[in-house]
Amino acid sequence: MDSADISADLQHVLLTEEELLNRIQILADQIQADYEDEEILLVGVLKGAVMVMADLVRSLRTHKVEMDWMAVSSYGSGTTSSGVVRILKDLDTHIEGRHVIVVEDILDSGLTLTWLLKNLGSRHPKSIEVFTLLRKPEAMKVPVEAKYVGFDIPNEFVVGYGLDYAQKYRNLRCVGTLAPHVYEN
Ligand code: XMP
Ligand code: MG
Repeated sequence: MDSADISADLQHVLLTEEELLNRIQILADQIQADYEDEEILLVGVLKGAVMVMADLVRSLRTHKVEMDWMAVSSYGSGTTSSGVVRILKDLDTHIEGRHVIVVEDILDSGLTLTWLLKNLGSRHPKSIEVFTLLRKPEAMKVPVEAKYVGFDIPNEFVVGYGLDYAQKYRNLRCVGTLAPHVYEN
């Protein structure tokens, strides 16, 4: 759906579909240059990274790329991350000796990714990097080094392009903030 389909629920559009896709293509070209002819494994973090992954992987001009998925849930209350993470779905593949890029929708406090990088790092990949579409620098509690960052955004709750509020709005083509009335229901 487009912003026009839910204009009453949207407060403002932060990033249009065009801006998102253009930026992803630039980062894909960068990845292509960095890894040259090497095999890459993209590890998407469900469910938020589904859209980013779909567009990123199609923007790469190589067949030497595979996708795998992890689902994690962070213990703790509601919208804040605690850093204690539980694996709901692990990778199907072994990553030992492989070039891994973790693909995330958003880097907020950094707690989830810190845990994930430690977990994946212990499996002895050849290399491990982070691709995140969005990053909230003001929300960062632990520093996470992300090599590929789409956009730095203000410390506001955003939805769309894979990001949800109560599992809804993931299918919005753009990224935006929700009107206050949505949260009152
Ligand atoms: P941390 O704080 O550990 O958590 O970096 C990152 C995860 O928290 C979720 N998250 C959001 N989801 N809009 C969302 O829909 C947001 O603005 C937002 N900020 C954080 C998300 O699941 C991410 O992987
Ligand atoms: Mg996520």
